[in-house]
Amino acid sequence: MHSINANVLLLCLATLLSRAFSANFSELFQPSWAPDHIMAQGDTLQLKLDNASGCGFESKGKYLFGRVSVQIKLVQGDSAGTVTAFYMSSDGPYHDELDFEFLGNVSGEPYLVQTNVYVNGTGNREQRHTLWFDPTADFHTYSLLWNRHHIRFLIDGIPIRVFANREDIGVPYPKNQGMGIYGSVWNADDWATQGGRVKTDWTHAPFISAFQSFEVDACEYLPETDDMVGKCREGGDYWWDRPAMIGLSLHQSHQLKWVCRKHMVYDYCKDTMRFSDPPRECLG
Ligand SMILES: *[C@@H]1O[C@H](CO)[C@@H](O)[C@H](O)[C@H]1NC(C)=O
Ligand SMILES: *[C@@H]1O[C@H](CO)[C@@H](O)[C@H](O)[C@H]1NC(C)=O
Ligand SMILES: *[C@@H]1O[C@H](CO)[C@@H](O)[C@H](O)[C@H]1NC(C)=O
Ligand SMILES: *[C@@H]1O[C@H](CO)[C@@H](O)[C@H](O)[C@H]1NC(C)=O
Repeated sequence: MHSINANVLLLCLATLLSRAFSANFSELFQPSWAPDHIMAQGDTLQLKLDNASGCGFESKGKYLFGRVSVQIKLVQGDSAGTVTAFYMSSDGPYHDELDFEFLGNVSGEPYLVQTNVYVNGTGNREQRHTLWFDPTADFHTYSLLWNRHHIRFLIDGIPIRVFANREDIGVPYPKNQGMGIYGSVWNADDWATQGGRVKTDWTHAPFISAFQSFEVDACEYLPETDDMVGKCREGGDYWWDRPAMIGLSLHQSHQLKWVCRKHMVYDYCKDTMRFSDPPRECLG
């Protein structure tokens, strides 16, 4: 009896502590660039790129570890030259950053998803994947899960990339800076589509990506408030700190292998033209 009650209590407490949010946009986010290009339609947010501007939003808070998710439906039809982004980033020149960038294409040709990891101001860790569905036809869930052991990039719950903490071999790992959550749509026709060869066709503007169902289940990082900083520290009772979250489950590692085999089209770790010495985290 007692142990059951205690477990229930612990569970409730853990839920409270993890500050789970499933929220509408304005509680957690604010426009950060060209608010006149951001349109709310019910619970959906439309981000518009036209010949005048792109646009973007940012979270009001910063977070240290946890999981953030959003559903996105990408620019339909001709999206060549456009990039839709969903990412986390801290501030300053030595910032940490985790990126999902969706590189548009001409009608009928596939989008690419580029992911990247910056630690202390240094990125150059791109991977690129094709998708196993049409990301312009429906909303799909894109998530970042971040704990002290690794960072997962997930699409509809399927891991497409894991960046492991390899501080043991001298690879820096993002763990000291709170990161905000960002979304944006912009023109990147100098590099995004087919290596920059295909330019944005402005006669097809406006280009609109839709975002909805924001979920932030993460430790809010308020550096100016001592006890909040303490709450994000090791030893807090967060589900992402539990032993089961140290690595992928067997099922998830199979999913990751499948994605790598079938959908990865670029991996910086294998780019010997670019790195004559492979980056240390690529050595295994
Ligand atoms: C969204 O959140 C704001 C701020 O809490 C609230 O005023 C508004 O009613 C909410 N809108 C919807 C559609 O839930
Ligand atoms: C931008 O697009 C609008 C609407 O299509 C058009 O009227 C305007 O001339 C364009 N401006 C430039 C600088 O191309
Ligand atoms: C971040 O990089 C700067 C400049 O290279 C360096 O001085 C600093 O020690 C680094 N910080 C961490 C936490 O590695
Ligand atoms: C666009 O389509 C071309 C041709 O299918 C393909 O090579 C390329 O990887 C696709 N994606 C991007 C972002 O260029």
